[in-house]
Amino acid sequence: MSVFRVKSVEQSISDTEAPEHRLRRELTALDLTVFGIGVIVGTGIFVLTGRVAKEMAGPSVALSFVAAAVVCALAALCYAEFASTVPVAGSAYTFSFATLGEFPAWIIGWDLILEMMLGAAVVAVGWSGYLASLLSSFGIDLPASLAGDDPVFNLPASLIVLILTAVLVAGVKLSSRLNLVVVAIKVTVILLVIVAGLFFVKGANYTPFIPPAKQTAAVEGLSAPLIQVMFGITPVAFGVLGIFSAAAIVFFAYIGFDVVATAAEETRRPQRDLPIGIIASLVICTVLYVSVSLVVVGMQPYQSLSEAAPLADAFKAVGQTWAATLISIGALAGLTTVVMILMLGQSRVMFSMCRDNLLPRGLARVHPVYGTPYRITILLGVIISILAGLVPLSTIAELVNIGTLFAFVVVSIAVVILRRTRPDLPRSFRTPLVPLVPILSVLACLYLMINLPVETWLRFLAWMLIGVVIYFSYGYRHSRVADRPAGGPVKGG
Ligand code: ALA
Repeated sequence: MSVFRVKSVEQSISDTEAPEHRLRRELTALDLTVFGIGVIVGTGIFVLTGRVAKEMAGPSVALSFVAAAVVCALAALCYAEFASTVPVAGSAYTFSFATLGEFPAWIIGWDLILEMMLGAAVVAVGWSGYLASLLSSFGIDLPASLAGDDPVFNLPASLIVLILTAVLVAGVKLSSRLNLVVVAIKVTVILLVIVAGLFFVKGANYTPFIPPAKQTAAVEGLSAPLIQVMFGITPVAFGVLGIFSAAAIVFFAYIGFDVVATAAEETRRPQRDLPIGIIASLVICTVLYVSVSLVVVGMQPYQSLSEAAPLADAFKAVGQTWAATLISIGALAGLTTVVMILMLGQSRVMFSMCRDNLLPRGLARVHPVYGTPYRITILLGVIISILAGLVPLSTIAELVNIGTLFAFVVVSIAVVILRRTRPDLPRSFRTPLVPLVPILSVLACLYLMINLPVETWLRFLAWMLIGVVIYFSYGYRHSRVADRPAGGPVKGG
């Protein structure tokens, strides 16, 4: 028995064709693009823009968004090839199982849990910031200990997660139509910020565009980016290095295009539509992000940007409370679906892992009435709600980034491996310039990863270590793939 036993592409695809596991193929390329924008546009642009501009990049935060987009584009080209070749839910977990083997697949699955579980918590914290901003426009101020920039326990964030958990358990399907409505609201709000904000942009706020690098106490020690510690560079914020440190954080804003790949089993023509959905949603979001960040840093000196609700508060600062109110409402609606879809994607990946017996199969039991994996959903909901209440936004956003970047690295490597091991598979989308693009993707992701703080790396390694222990004490022995002769039936299937 090897920890590198592979679950072939054919096995993965045939698992999805079992009548009891067959999902309805209804989504088109347009639906996927809208679905992508629905998951992608959230805390990154509505919240993190303010913090990173204020603390790390100043007006050049717009360049950080461009840098992060380039990294994502390279990875997206690799995801697109995989999604068109192995159109199975489970995304990077399934891709790794088909190429690198069970243990790497487990590691990626465990890593995706980190991405989506913590991602949902981060977005819930962002949601709470906008709720507080909205309520304060109506003269209601939430106690600082329960919401705002630095609460003791973030009550609204915790509650929204519990409410969404209940909704997910009750089986409310986010139809592409509902998502379409929310995306329309979100995009309108973003366009409003761009168009209305332009009237309040002051050229002076753009100078200096790249504020001079300065030493700060905040980025010393374990909070310093790994790259600074590795190469002995004195910790700085701002400057050119600051743009890249900020890119490593605003990278969060793009997370979600990879979640599009989890809709593979519900797509009508996955081979053609998944690459379109993944790439189109990424391109649209990049244009929106760069424009919004340019406008927001033009409206206020970057030092005065709000950390909890920068877009809305920038309009408050110029006396446009009506716009601030509209933005807060749009952001609240928009962030709600991000939390929900991340939790949904999370339960789907965990569901695949339970289906392969790498986690207890009983956890994946579907509710007799609601037809949802209620045990997984409730378990995750409770954990996420505690995290959202207790952990500061920045800490978890960075951990989500490192987890996602790691998945991108593995998927990029796996594309090259699958080209060698299974050249025969039909690939309707081929990553251009293999192996150059995957190699650049790996290098770019690693570069952003080393721009994350040392403490983020330590937390990430601790999480992975827990994963390794769980695999060897449980998954390795229970795996369904373990005893399956090539192409034959599986345990418990
Ligand atoms: N990209 C998503 C957001 O920014 C996760 O909220």
